[in-house]
Amino acid sequence: MANMSVTASPLTELEARERAGAAVRKGLAAYPKHLPPWLFYDESGSRLFDAITELEEYYLTRTEREILARNAEAIVAAAAQGARVRIQELGAGSAEKTRLLLQAAVDRQRSVIYEPIDVSASALDGAREHIERDIPGVHVIPRVMDYTQGPALELDADHRTRRLVAFIGSSIGNFEPEQAGRLLKRIRAGIQRDDSLLLGIDLVKNENILIPAYDDAEGVTAAFNLNVLARLNRDFGANFDLNAFEHRAVWNGMRSRVEMHLESLRPQRVHLPELDMVVEFSEGETVHTENSYKYETAQIEEMLGRAGFAPAALWTDPKGWFAVYLGRAE
Ligand code: AVI
Repeated sequence: MANMSVTASPLTELEARERAGAAVRKGLAAYPKHLPPWLFYDESGSRLFDAITELEEYYLTRTEREILARNAEAIVAAAAQGARVRIQELGAGSAEKTRLLLQAAVDRQRSVIYEPIDVSASALDGAREHIERDIPGVHVIPRVMDYTQGPALELDADHRTRRLVAFIGSSIGNFEPEQAGRLLKRIRAGIQRDDSLLLGIDLVKNENILIPAYDDAEGVTAAFNLNVLARLNRDFGANFDLNAFEHRAVWNGMRSRVEMHLESLRPQRVHLPELDMVVEFSEGETVHTENSYKYETAQIEEMLGRAGFAPAALWTDPKGWFAVYLGRAE
C-alpha cells in the first residue's frame, strides 16, 4: 500500500538475485577474492549496520548528527539562497539524520517536499510513514532507484525551488575514488545551476581511532562482515562455516582507506551449488569485503570542483573528524 507513490519500479527480485549472483561469481573467482559491500545490506545486515551506528567506537554517525543538529538552519538557508528548498536524499535508508534538515526547512518555509531515493522500498516506506507523522509539513515522495546506475540522476525539475541533494553518512567513502567522482558528476548532471549538494564525508585521522570504529569490542562489525557469508548460504545454497572465517579491519595508509576482510582460518572448500561453483581457500587467505575511504578536505574540494560544484560551505566538529560540505552547482 505504501508503495503506491513510488515513482520508479524497483529491481525485480529476480534481477536483484542475478546481479548478486554475478558479483559473487566474479568476486570469488578472482585473486585476491572480493565481494561488493552492497551485499551486506540484507535484512539482518541492515539491522547490524543500525547497531554499528550506535556503537561508542563508531564515531561517524554520532559526529555527523551533531554537525547537522548544530547547523541545520544554516545549511538549509545556504541551499535556499532566499528561495524555497526541496530536499532529495541518496541512499536514504531510514533517513534518521535528515529529519534535522527537514525540521529546519519546515521552520523556515512551513512545508517541504522530501524525496528519499533508495534501492530498498521497505526502508522508504518506513521512513515516509514516520517522517510524515513526526514532522507535519513534510511531504514525502519516495523513489525506489539505484542512484549509482544510468548516465544521469533523473531528478524532477522544479523551477520554483532550489534543490538540496543530500548524500550523507560518508556513503561516498564506500566507492572507489574514481567511481565517487563519476557519481558526483551524475548528481551534478541531474540538477540545475545554483542547486546544492550536501556531502557528509569522513576525514583521515589516527589509526587508533579508525580501527576500533571498524573492529569494535562487542563484535558487532565482525557479525556485520560475517553476515555476508550467511547471506550466500541462504541465497545461493552455499555451505560457508561462519566459524571458519574471522573479521579483519586494516588501515591502508597508502590508499587512505579502512579495509574489511574475512580471513579463512583453515584450508577449506566451499560449495555454492546455485552458482555452480566450488571455491577453495587456503589458511590465512582473505576475501576483501569493503573499503571505507577517508579523505582530506583539500581532496574533497578538488573532487567537488571537478564534478562542477563550488565548495560553498564546510561544517565540521570540534575534533575535525567529519566534514559536511555544501557544494553549489556551477
Ligand atoms: C555505510 N558506510 C558509510 C559504512 C562505513 O563506515 O564505511 C559501512 C560500515 N562498514 C563497517 N562499519 C560500517
